[in-house]
Amino acid sequence: MHNVRQISEDSWWLGASDRRLELFENTYPTPDGMSYDNYLIMDEKTCLLDGIDEGVSRQFMENLEFVLGGRTLDYMVINHMEPDHCVVIPQLVERYPQIKLVGTTQTFKMLAQFFDFDPEPHAVRVKEGDTLELGRHTLRFLLAPMVHWPEVMVTFDQLTHTLYSADAFGEFGALSGNIFADEVDWEQDWADEARRYYVNIVGKYGPQTLALLKKVQSLDIAMICPLHGHLWRRDFQLILDRYAKWASYTPELDSVAIFYGSIYGDTACAADILSMRLAERGLRNVRVYDCSKADTSELVSRAFQYSKLVFASATYNMGLFDSTRVLLEDLSSHALRNRVVGVMENGSWAPKAGSLMLEQLEGMSNMTILEPVVRLKSGVKQSNLDEIEALADALANA
Ligand SMILES: Cc1cc2nc3c(=O)[nH]c(=O)nc-3n(C[C@H](O)[C@H](O)[C@H](O)COP(=O)(O)O)c2cc1C
Ligand SMILES: [Fe+2]
Ligand SMILES: [Fe+2]
Repeated sequence: MHNVRQISEDSWWLGASDRRLELFENTYPTPDGMSYDNYLIMDEKTCLLDGIDEGVSRQFMENLEFVLGGRTLDYMVINHMEPDHCVVIPQLVERYPQIKLVGTTQTFKMLAQFFDFDPEPHAVRVKEGDTLELGRHTLRFLLAPMVHWPEVMVTFDQLTHTLYSADAFGEFGALSGNIFADEVDWEQDWADEARRYYVNIVGKYGPQTLALLKKVQSLDIAMICPLHGHLWRRDFQLILDRYAKWASYTPELDSVAIFYGSIYGDTACAADILSMRLAERGLRNVRVYDCSKADTSELVSRAFQYSKLVFASATYNMGLFDSTRVLLEDLSSHALRNRVVGVMENGSWAPKAGSLMLEQLEGMSNMTILEPVVRLKSGVKQSNLDEIEALADALANA
């Protein structure tokens, strides 16, 4: 049975939510499920904007047939050639043999790599600024390379002033009928998952995302329709301001997030003591994370949110404790920069964690590393309390 929602005069949302999914991209936990959005414009020509993931493709096909109401599908715009939106393409080509597929040169290169059918009879290649007439609707295509893959473009409907934005402005989490951001308490309930999505999926490509934002700002937008999560039809600044920050590696919150990796609890104890000293100095919203417990995608998201970060790790076989090592590697690979950083190490016979963390942090752009480094030699001692006080002062004053 169909489950669709009309979003404007002759445009429809055909998406679906997958609440069984454990890991998006087999990597990122989705405790609240995942949504995949796509859209159909019913004009003189019918036009689908993007496909859907395999896990919910049955619902999508029912939705598509219902809105088409017996008409054929003339066009499919492929804004993004990733399988979570494209796995249904062979099925669509089989069912609608006259279908034209619209994408960039790169899109068709990848399409031929993923599938066995010959795309050429279907291919409509577009470049920056090209348009497609559907009747009343004219679609304009704008390239957005590396927001998330190199072939990505976004589509602007000049009639409804709707931006079909591909993975940009997406979120983790299933949708529940209220598909518009203005129908939920977005800041309270969704902003964190929008950040975790952006940072982990696209976060490495800040400059490319800024380039897309610049294009978006030149458009007179009435609606933003992403491929995951809520649609926007007002309060655009809520999401655009956040994207401007995330993409430029600008913190949202001036406070401290502490990330520790601890086997027996002494490094954790030092982290907790530091958090208390920071609270006494008037800092609000201080956060302490056990890197072995919290998911790395959540930690990376918080590191993008906070202005000041503290990394604390036990030494482990002359290296960093695994969970802190993984976090720091992930932050490097996501190109995190522009942060104030404190370091705390632990080790019982040949402590190495401090120098390894400093090495990693120095390899990242514009990280201001604070003195002193807190050096535990197993348990937290009086001399460590003095170092922690000094680090708290440095963090509060930075
Ligand atoms: C498997 C293992 C390997 C370790 N390797 C080192 C090491 O190479 N150098 C060192 O100084 N301490 C090493 N340690 C000791 C811990 O870093 C040290 O006991 C520290 O105080 C643990 O802090 P925690 O209470 O936060 O877990 C190792 C501990 C374990 C369990
Ligand atoms: Fe993607
Ligand atoms: Fe996606």
